[in-house]
Amino acid sequence: MSKPPVTRPPPLVQRPAWKALQAHHQKVREVHLRQLFADDPLRGERFAAEACGLYLDYSKNRITDETLQLLLQLAGECELREHAEAMFTGRKINVTEQRAVLHTALRAPREERIVLDGIDIVPQVHAVLDKMAEFTRQIHAGEWLGFTGLPIRNVVNIGIGGSDLGPVMAYEALRHYSHRDMTFRFVSNIDGTDFAEATRDLKPEETLFVVCSKTFKTLETLTNAQAAREWILRKLVDERAIARHFVAVSTNVEGVAKFGIDARHMFGLWDWAGGRYSMDSAIGLTTMLAIGAENFQAMLAGMRAMDQHFRSAPFGRNLPVLMGLLAVWYNNFFDAQTVAVLPYEQYLKRFPAYLQQLTMESNGKHVTLDGARVDYQTGPIYWGEPGTNGQHSFYQLIHQGTRLIPCDFIGFCQPLNPLARHHDLLTANLFAQTEALAFGKTQEEVRAEGTPDWLVPHRMFEGNRPTNTVLAERLTPETLGCLVALYEHSVFTQGVIWQIDSFDQWGVELGKALAERTIPELESPQEPQLEHDSSTNTLIRRYRQFRKLQKTGDSS
Ligand code: F6P
Repeated sequence: MSKPPVTRPPPLVQRPAWKALQAHHQKVREVHLRQLFADDPLRGERFAAEACGLYLDYSKNRITDETLQLLLQLAGECELREHAEAMFTGRKINVTEQRAVLHTALRAPREERIVLDGIDIVPQVHAVLDKMAEFTRQIHAGEWLGFTGLPIRNVVNIGIGGSDLGPVMAYEALRHYSHRDMTFRFVSNIDGTDFAEATRDLKPEETLFVVCSKTFKTLETLTNAQAAREWILRKLVDERAIARHFVAVSTNVEGVAKFGIDARHMFGLWDWAGGRYSMDSAIGLTTMLAIGAENFQAMLAGMRAMDQHFRSAPFGRNLPVLMGLLAVWYNNFFDAQTVAVLPYEQYLKRFPAYLQQLTMESNGKHVTLDGARVDYQTGPIYWGEPGTNGQHSFYQLIHQGTRLIPCDFIGFCQPLNPLARHHDLLTANLFAQTEALAFGKTQEEVRAEGTPDWLVPHRMFEGNRPTNTVLAERLTPETLGCLVALYEHSVFTQGVIWQIDSFDQWGVELGKALAERTIPELESPQEPQLEHDSSTNTLIRRYRQFRKLQKTGDSS
């Protein structure tokens, strides 16, 4: 593969806006949110933006009007608008893989035209969506039957990374809208426990496996798919059962055929949709089977609405741009190492895990597009848990620890499961946390409560901990779509500023290659010639020793 021409932009740290932000940071880094709110009674209303049913309150960030203006200037200097257009119009912005990045085409309406290498790809997208919808209808109507003539009641998604995290997150998020008479499970880990626990109470005669792998080469997925095949055949015996109990989602027709899945039961995708950006493609088949085609379409509509907002709204009112720039502000000027994502919605329990791949596989890069080592930090660590659970575990560190942890709070005005006062209590906690983090509690306030002097330092809260709050009316398929696309484009914004390739993932290769080398060393009956470092060699020997004991035990 020859090196593609990359126009070398001016180094980030030499851009005027970057330098101005550095100088500005010196001026504002000690300014307290208490002060900023006291100086401007309208701050809470002014530093807010709204789009596609999402209200973003970013007033509790450590910014002034000047900060915002400089961040927006930085976006302009980094040609964010031009880069976004390059993505939306199919330019090969995934430079190291020489691929277009067109996940936005996955939610384009039928009438749109998006031409890639001379071909309009929108009809292909809709042909697959139609095939998914028809398959979903057949399953729900009991027209697609298992090999013994029983309807399908269980769906097991087999996939990993983007072929798991998006589908399982969306399934959990939209469970309220799902077909409750069916069971949905997700197997990703090569640890046999994952497969064993996911299938132990299922009947093979009523179970469909959706094998999701963009490449159809991933060790975990192929190993689990093989286990599923054996699990089906152990009960149904006849090879013809495979056709009724397996479908595949992949770009790799030969790989799917080699596994024994009929090409008619394969749902296609394309190399221009990256794994972590593919939950709205056929990779979302299990999601569609759970929530139905109409709800899936609503999710796509939400994503589309956010795409259009990102593409056209002025940056100062553009939700993904604002969130992306604020992430850069803390990451590069305050040296914040992590971002906490805290949904106050139990259905979003897998949202932080999903975001970890989206954000960290995208922006965990150490070189720029033209291969130069960056001299600034790139992607922060994303983590989180739903509220209020996190309040009783790690929030202590966010409130009183020594690190600055910007947080994204996500909440909804209407509950999906109204239960006594629960929702008001939940939301009161969300608002209270952002208030406590921003304003804290001064020594004087603590003392005035009658706290003895020695205890005052322990009980005071410095505050000045920044947060975003994203508030929506209700968690619906459409809202989820908006939320996902919001983060996708925020990640994009950050990647453009850092001048990195947000769409490759070379960092996963080395571990995969070393594992391939190690597998025979663990499995061979003869003592292998080990040529690793002394630590790895010793670990392998120790493993072999104990494993041998177990294997001897198994056979005795
Ligand atoms: O190992 C990382 C990765 O390539 C992810 O980017 C991807 O989502 C995942 O593996 C699964 O890949 P596939 O869908 O090809 O099995």
